[in-house]
Amino acid sequence: MKILVTGGAGFIGSNFIRYVLREHDDIEVVNFDALTYAGNLENLAGLEDDPRYRFVRGDLALESDLERGFGEGPFDAVVNFAAESHVDRSLHMGADRFILTNILGTQLLLDAARRSGVGRYVQVSTDEVYGDLGSEGVFTEETPLAPNNPYAATKAAADLLVHAAWHSHGIAAVITRCSNNFGPYQFPEKLIPLMIANALEERPLPVYGDGRNVRDWIYVEDHCAAVDLVMRRGRPGEVYNIGAMNEMPNIEVVQRILKYLGKPESLITFVKDRPGHDRRYAMDASKIRRELGWRPRFSFEDALAATVEWYRTHDDWLRHVRSGEYRTYYEEMYGGR
Ligand code: NAD
Ligand code: TYD
Repeated sequence: MKILVTGGAGFIGSNFIRYVLREHDDIEVVNFDALTYAGNLENLAGLEDDPRYRFVRGDLALESDLERGFGEGPFDAVVNFAAESHVDRSLHMGADRFILTNILGTQLLLDAARRSGVGRYVQVSTDEVYGDLGSEGVFTEETPLAPNNPYAATKAAADLLVHAAWHSHGIAAVITRCSNNFGPYQFPEKLIPLMIANALEERPLPVYGDGRNVRDWIYVEDHCAAVDLVMRRGRPGEVYNIGAMNEMPNIEVVQRILKYLGKPESLITFVKDRPGHDRRYAMDASKIRRELGWRPRFSFEDALAATVEWYRTHDDWLRHVRSGEYRTYYEEMYGGR
């Protein structure tokens, strides 16, 4: 099997590439990535000499780049992880790039996949397309799309385009919607790696609002296993929710990180809330469990401890990704809060 993975230099994409190369001998992977601030070839260190792996630098929103990427084919499947992925950036720095990559990029990728006759297309989407849950209930695949921030709106738009490509042109497309991921190689702009990185340096941990917003956490490797299954056996035209039933208020996540690192809770600093901050997400993943036999393998406690340990022992990686652009970003995002 030969697959094109977009966004493979980012957090989940790089974990996915490592996962499939480890789990399957008979797979070849071409990683197509623009290397934005979130894309980092260090995430794939050690794979350079694997003859089953190849990297192509390219932008999803440029047809000529996609042509180069598909020139490495033919591919049995395309898995689209590439995206602008951070809600805060979409709120504070403008949504243009989100529209280009997440919407236009998805459409151009679908068109290129169709032209080249790819057998299977997987769109990696998110629970955020469903919007906000009250204190009760869970998102199912039937929950109406109701995105609340620009990032989520562009991901929802992409999902609709994928559905349309399946419905109109018969592309064998499948959509996955996963809850919040954590694990190695996550860029320290997202909650868990940001809190670990700050705690390691005993810098303030900026918790938005009252810290009672709830996210449903999943270890990245469990997500990767689910995407791999969907790529092989998911039914075209279907959506599969992915989640590990680990709901937790942000403040509790942060307290656990501090405990693992033996750092004081006095580092927690409540800061101005994110505008329009969704209160709660929770996923019903019974469909993928029932149809494809997927199960999460990692407990939240063990996976969080392993993640903290990973960041503690990868200070070179952390130092590199936090130099340059990251400093400007951090100042703009948290400076006046
Ligand atoms: P990330 O920001 O870590 O990585 C995104 C990658 O896409 C980077 O390598 C970047 O260089 C690349 N990229 C960005 N724009 C591109 C373009 N125009 N052309 C080619 N490559 C481009 O993101 P992530 O957290 O790994 O998320 C991957 C996917 O999973 C996204 O589609 C995201 O919406 C989805 N998702 C993420 C989570 C989560 O908790 N992180 C949860 C559910 C779904
Ligand atoms: P994030 O990791 O950005 O993921 P998402 O917004 O996609 O759920 O944020 C997770 C939760 O943590 C969310 O409720 C916002 C909150 N948060 C903070 O409290 N402080 C921070 O510095 C960040 C980045 C997030």
